[in-house]
Parts: sequence; structure tokens; C-alpha cells
Amino acid sequence: MKLVLIGAPAAGKGTQAARLVRHYGIAHISTGDMLREEVAKGTDLGNQAKSIMAAGGLVSDEIIIAMVKERIQRDDCKKGFILDGFPRTVVQAEKLEDMVALDHVVYINAPDEVMLERLTARESCPKCGATYNKLFMPAKTAGVCDACGEKLTQRKDDTPEAGKARIKTFHEQSEPLVGYYGKKGILFEVDGTQAVDEITKAIIAGLDR
Ligand code: AP5
Repeated sequence: MKLVLIGAPAAGKGTQAARLVRHYGIAHISTGDMLREEVAKGTDLGNQAKSIMAAGGLVSDEIIIAMVKERIQRDDCKKGFILDGFPRTVVQAEKLEDMVALDHVVYINAPDEVMLERLTARESCPKCGATYNKLFMPAKTAGVCDACGEKLTQRKDDTPEAGKARIKTFHEQSEPLVGYYGKKGILFEVDGTQAVDEITKAIIAGLDR
């Protein structure tokens, strides 16, 4: 299965992708996670991406497309993959089409205010990558990862200012993908305001239909 998850910042793409990769036994490709790894390692690519990400903009199509092209050729993608956060522009979608034939595109839709509330309350584990939410999915002990005991951190782009900028960028540059994939007949939409389990059920029902 080759699947794309589209959704504004904090719509729940990463949360749902983690569940779907377990269910279908396919690879999870998050361009945001890949870029954050580059930033953490201090590579040239990471240094170029750092300020763009902090300001809520998009890293250049060329860089991202090259990164994804290399990633989907790895062995763990043979059974299929979920692209989380890619494509984010129509140019990226067109280039992806030259690389693979997608089976489905899922659009997780939620109002801006819901996403802003979620993203400013998000906490992540820098060691194992687990994600929490102070309001909706708190860690058992505040500020500490349930899975590995590491101190939780907040993403640099999860401030109200950067969050608003990211949501604006989504509407301007990524939302056109909904029409793009809708016309191709491979897109279905789920209501991202539901509880996490309900969204997972709705996606699996749509994919297995
Ligand atoms: P990226 O990491 O992809 O960020 P994003 O798209 O803004 O998405 P998020 O990770 O914020 O949210 P999510 O939808 O995964 O939500 P999550 O499940 O974590 O990209 C970061 C940056 O990298 C971009 O801004 C850009 O600069 C750059 N970039 C990446 N890809 C690029 C590309 N293709 N081209 C160019 N630049 C690119 O959930 C969020 C929170 O809500 C969590 O706390 C979670 O616990 C909670 N939550 C989730 N679901 C629910 C629910 N149903 N109810 C209540 N709470 C929930």
C-alpha cells in the first residue's frame, strides 16, 4: 500500500501514521522527522532548513523531492509506505507521481483553532520520538516520557506565532493538493476533530473499502 496523509499542522498525521504502520506493516516516512534529524545532526541540509522550519515556511521542493526519492527506494518500503507531510506542494505531488503510483490519499481535516490548540500543547520525546499532548494525551508523569523515561521537549515551531504561520502556509501551499488528488479519485477525507481511535477506524475503513 502506498499512502499519503495530508493535513494541516497538528491535524494528527504523525499520530495516525504510527498506528497505520503497525496495522499494515508498512514504512512510515515523515519528511518533518527527517528534516529534524538533519537539524539535530547539524548537516548542511539541516542548517539550511532550520530557520525556514522555525518560521513556519517550507523547505525547497528540490531538497525535499531528492530526500523522498532516496528514502522510498530503501528495502523497508518494498511492502509499501505512508508519506506523512509529503507532498506539500503541487510541484512535489507531480514529482511523486513520476516516482510511484499512489493507492490512496487521506485528508485529515480539522478547523484552524483545533490545530493551534493541539500544537501548542504538544510534547515529544527527543530519545524515542513518542508524542504527547498536555491537554489531550498527557504523559503519566508530567514532562517525562512513559516509554523511555526521557525528559519531554517542545518543538521549536510549536509556539503560537510559528503555529499560525505554519497553518497559513498549509492553506496557501498545501490545501490545493486536496483538489489535485480529489480530481484523480484517490482522495478521501476524515474528520480530524474526532478522538484518535475513531479517526484510525475511519481511515482503516476507507482504505479497506
Ligand atoms: P512536520 O513535522 O511534517 O509538521 P506538520 O505538518 O506541521 O505536522 P505536525 O507534526 O505538527 O502535526 P501532525 O499532523 O503530525 O500531528 P500530530 O499527530 O503530531 O513538518 C515540520 C516542518 O518541516 C514544516 O513546517 C516545513 O518547514 C518542513 N517540511 C516538512 N515536510 C516538508 C515538505 N514536504 N516540503 C517542504 N517543507 C517540509 O499531533 C499533534 C498533537 O495533537 C500531538 O500532541 C498529538 O498528541 C495531538 N493529537 C493528535 N491527534 C489528536 C486527536 N484526534 N485529538 C486530540 N489530540 C490529538
